[in-house]
Amino acid sequence: MSKTTCSVVCSLAALVIVLANCRNEMPSNMVDPPVLPPGTTFLEPSPQRNGDPVAGYNYLIYGDFISSGVPLAVFKQVFGGNSPDDLDRTGDADGIAFRFNVVNASNGVKVVAPTCLTCHAERLNGQILVGLGSNTYDYTTDQAAMFQSADLAVKFIYGDNSPEWAAYYPASRAYKAIGPYILTKTRGVNPADKIFATLSAHRRTDDLTWIDDQQFSVPLEAVPTDVPAWWLMKKKNALYYNGLGRGDFARLSAASGMLTMLDSAEARRIDNRFPDLMAWIRTLEAPAYPYTVDQTLVAEGKMVFEKNCSKCHGKYDDGAETYPNLLVDLPTVGTDPLLSQTYQTSPQYHNWYNGSWYAEAPNKGQLLPNSGYVAPPLDGIWATAPYLHNGSVPTLEDLLNSPQRPKYWKRVFENTEVNYDKEKVGWLYSTPASKTDAETYDTTLPGYGNGGHTFGDALSVADRKALVAYLKTL
Ligand code: HEC
Ligand code: HEC
Repeated sequence: MSKTTCSVVCSLAALVIVLANCRNEMPSNMVDPPVLPPGTTFLEPSPQRNGDPVAGYNYLIYGDFISSGVPLAVFKQVFGGNSPDDLDRTGDADGIAFRFNVVNASNGVKVVAPTCLTCHAERLNGQILVGLGSNTYDYTTDQAAMFQSADLAVKFIYGDNSPEWAAYYPASRAYKAIGPYILTKTRGVNPADKIFATLSAHRRTDDLTWIDDQQFSVPLEAVPTDVPAWWLMKKKNALYYNGLGRGDFARLSAASGMLTMLDSAEARRIDNRFPDLMAWIRTLEAPAYPYTVDQTLVAEGKMVFEKNCSKCHGKYDDGAETYPNLLVDLPTVGTDPLLSQTYQTSPQYHNWYNGSWYAEAPNKGQLLPNSGYVAPPLDGIWATAPYLHNGSVPTLEDLLNSPQRPKYWKRVFENTEVNYDKEKVGWLYSTPASKTDAETYDTTLPGYGNGGHTFGDALSVADRKALVAYLKTL
């Protein structure tokens, strides 16, 4: 470096230092930005479209955001039409299981199509709770096989030149394309991210029409996730576990249509209805803990929480709730990194999305991957076991005492009071010596790790007990 350059650079450096010091001596009436906990970043909000919640719920349980499926008559022959009436629906959907809608395909044929509630509804003490993430659905076997048989049935009954075949075919083609890529190793965890990543390989970016061969290669392994509860969405500035989903939440969620829609004209029709659905989701409240709690313990636990946890998870006082919307980096949270890292190692999907119809203004969605995980709101946390983004920890007490977390664990997939652990808060489980079946969670598998989030480890036994009691009340 020459003398002149040095003097310019050095005086610039000196100026920066002086300016930096001046900043520290700003008059005290200036508001300093809040000090964030180390290892965290604030997720900025984006503008959202408004909608009508009543119309949104109606669209959810009757709507045609998935517009292809098995013809109603065939569905009834195979599954009967007498499923429990969990959603109190009338008309054709009466007697059809809660995870399907009966809709008119674009050519008018009545089909039974899967809905959001396959993943976003779950039984709790006998009742279906819409908005509770499914924690029992089984993605360990390839669903494409079912469609091979359904193909034969539809062809046999109607022929493959029929309107029924045309109404059914987009669903069959999509399930066969995604089948091998969305297998999980354990029942209860969900491969939704991978469903969209795989579908994007089959859709043109501009008009969203279907392409038979993958336009980019998709890794075979699916990373497991635990479906988040819908009632948390209203507090969030960014969607998905790593804060990936930015921009308009309705546009982001409307990507569900990618399963069977014909083209971007259909995507636009779906997208126009989604602000209503988001408006309904924003009305949801967490269910209250239905069993008794010890109020003295709860009061103690609240103090423990506000000292150790609120800086990331917010405060839950009636009328004075706060939620800081923080992304926590991987070294700080320490939980299984694979879900977050996948967006670095396989950027094809979010690159596709950000150049697609979905990312067009106005109301654009964007997928901006971060390294780390969002510290989620904890409303209704008693009802959403198992815990962490991959559902690797069966109870709250295990979550708050990491050496105690089971390496292999197995639960009964029936969400009833007898299977619920009111002490540890979560599902009762046994601890087999190794993984012997699809119902045993093996935390040694990639993506299924149960490490990290050690923020409760240093608490005394008494403080942890009080904290768990408090968490029941959120
Ligand atoms: C195959 C299962 C599945 C289906 C079907 C599904 N979702 Fe999801 N959804 C998930 C999973 C899993 C996540 C979490 C993914 C992540 O964060 O990586 C999620 C996340 C979300 C989120 C963000 C929640 C948050 O707190 O970040 C919203 C909103 C959402 N889904 C809405 C919908 C809507 C609306 C539909 C129907 C049109 C739908 N989903 C269909 C599984 C599903
Ligand atoms: C530095 C920020 C930070 C602190 C402090 C912190 N957490 Fe967390 N917490 C997180 C993050 C990030 C996640 C999501 C991690 C993941 O899913 O991999 C999380 C997840 C959780 C979950 C699981 C949520 C779910 O739906 O599965 C619970 C419960 C929880 N924290 C409770 C607590 C409690 C209680 C404390 C205080 C002892 C605490 N946390 C302290 C950042 C923090």
